[in-house]
Amino acid sequence: MVRTFDAIILGAGAAGMMCAIRAGNRGKKVLLLDHATAPGEKIRISGGGRCNFTNLHTSPSNYLSSNPHFAKSALARYTPQHFLDLVERHGITWHEKTLGQLFCDNSAKDIIRMLLLEMQAAGVVMELQQEIASIEHGDGTYRLRMGAGGLVQAPALVVATGGKSIPKMGATGFAYRIAEQFCVGLVETRPGLVPLTLDPLLLERLAPLSGISVPAEVRHGKTSFREALLFTHRGLSGPAILQISSYWREGDAVEVKIEPSLDVLPLLKAARNHNGRQAPQTVLAEVLPKRLAQFLAETAGVTAQLADLSDKTLDKLRHAIQSWSLTPAGSEGYRTAEVTIGGVDTKELDSRTMAVKRVPGLHFIGECVDVTGWLGGYNFQWAWASGHVCGDAL
Ligand code: FDA
Repeated sequence: MVRTFDAIILGAGAAGMMCAIRAGNRGKKVLLLDHATAPGEKIRISGGGRCNFTNLHTSPSNYLSSNPHFAKSALARYTPQHFLDLVERHGITWHEKTLGQLFCDNSAKDIIRMLLLEMQAAGVVMELQQEIASIEHGDGTYRLRMGAGGLVQAPALVVATGGKSIPKMGATGFAYRIAEQFCVGLVETRPGLVPLTLDPLLLERLAPLSGISVPAEVRHGKTSFREALLFTHRGLSGPAILQISSYWREGDAVEVKIEPSLDVLPLLKAARNHNGRQAPQTVLAEVLPKRLAQFLAETAGVTAQLADLSDKTLDKLRHAIQSWSLTPAGSEGYRTAEVTIGGVDTKELDSRTMAVKRVPGLHFIGECVDVTGWLGGYNFQWAWASGHVCGDAL
């Protein structure tokens, strides 16, 4: 028996659930399919379990895409305030952590519960643990054969199966295979918001710093982020590194400015005038973690007592602290990347509906599209917005 719906949505993540809610509320008969055992698994683990569900300052400039204008329409039509209104209607309490990032007070599970309640109210049929064996398209209908043998069909198919990041959590890159099946162009994918690794020699030298977090400005070309940097046993992480990783390409250097608001040179000169017998690392240890101060002074080769150091030598030390250029060996890859950059080429899509222009009834939303947000709630806002405008058009 073939079951018929108005729309079939693949992927019960943030984008798929939002799309299902919107379409269901508009009276559409919606089937939402996922191969996982639970919906919204990435929502559950996001934001350290508290889900950074949106960012108040969302604008198209917070996204990477081959077409920076593409996200404008959806982001303008479904704003952070729209999602916040929904959160508040469900009595979920929240707080702004920093830089407009909104988190649940209690748990990310509150967001999943809210989406499930909304889906139920909208009459969405959700079926989990469903493998899709094949997709056929003809006579204006999409026919999907399930691994277990069932057959479902609809005039509209929405692909919301996410990217390749964190395969352990069920990421499959399925959306790209569907795009290929329908000859929809793809922009090359790569891991984004991901820790960067270092070559073994540098890593060995940095090993004692593992676990230290410092304020930093990290730059790649014209792009820079001022947030925390974390030394790890594999390389570098923390928000500043995750952010720049989305812009970084293999072989490129990044420039690190530790404690960017600190005036290092005046600090060292004043210390030299006050007590010239101190070592520079002793002075630096007043404003930086001790192990880091030691490492930076040793790296710069500036460890003699301050009275013996010229202005030029002190400037060499400042340079080591605030103009540190290093070339990462690579990234931790999709294993730990929060997002996948690239994906379904936006040239193929109508930005108001997320429909493929050349293939009637086919849509792509969320992370599988070549729109990738910065760290800080921007990726969920894209998932909500692209899902909502698509659901509006089904
Ligand atoms: P998502 O990946 O969420 O959903 C895709 C769904 O499709 C999944 O349910 C999956 O099981 C299903 N699926 C995949 N292949 C399938 C197949 N072959 N058949 C059937 N179903 C299939 N963003 C943010 O804004 N704030 C935050 O706090 C965080 N935190 C965060 C932490 C971590 C650890 C990660 C990995 C990521 C984040 N993110 C984030 C990013 C955010 O999770 C991501 O951008 C969204 O989940 C993307 O939503 P989608 O619905 O597009 O895909």
